[in-house]
Amino acid sequence: MDVILIGFMGSGKTTIGKLLAEMLLVPHTDLDQEIVESAGQTIKDFFSKYGEVKFRELEHKILLNQLKKNGVLSTGGGTPINIQNLEILQATKTPVILLEASTNTILERVGKSEERPLVNQMSTRQLTSLRAERMPFYQECADLRINTDNRSPVEITEQIYRYL
Ligand code: S3P
Repeated sequence: MDVILIGFMGSGKTTIGKLLAEMLLVPHTDLDQEIVESAGQTIKDFFSKYGEVKFRELEHKILLNQLKKNGVLSTGGGTPINIQNLEILQATKTPVILLEASTNTILERVGKSEERPLVNQMSTRQLTSLRAERMPFYQECADLRINTDNRSPVEITEQIYRYL
């Protein structure tokens, strides 16, 4: 991969990933989408049938495959939380960009997203604490941190482009 985007749900990984790939003239890969294709079902269905542990195993396997490709990779919000994934993200020479967003922004962006089993089951307080719990993992593997609150996708993408 040429660049990897990480961050909490609703931080803009997919939106920015697509724009950045267009700007860099490279393919865009969305890890969640790859999981859906490989599992032959939605993430929500996979979670309810097999649970989070199985989801993380599949996510790890697919991450390993995707890293060999070129382009922009948008990860899932929980990808760096798996210690094996964290080690890969820390060791890689590929720039890892952390997109940050406040809990309010996250709620505005994802709302009661049907497709996000984790947000769906959570209160705002739980979401806030999950975000705080995950932040150290994100920060441990990020080469660049970008706050996305009140900023347009194009502005954010251009900042990453300049950094690269
Ligand atoms: C998850 C985030 C989702 C998806 C799954 C679990 C998480 O990806 O991988 O629902 O644990 O934060 P997005 O960050 O793209 O929503």
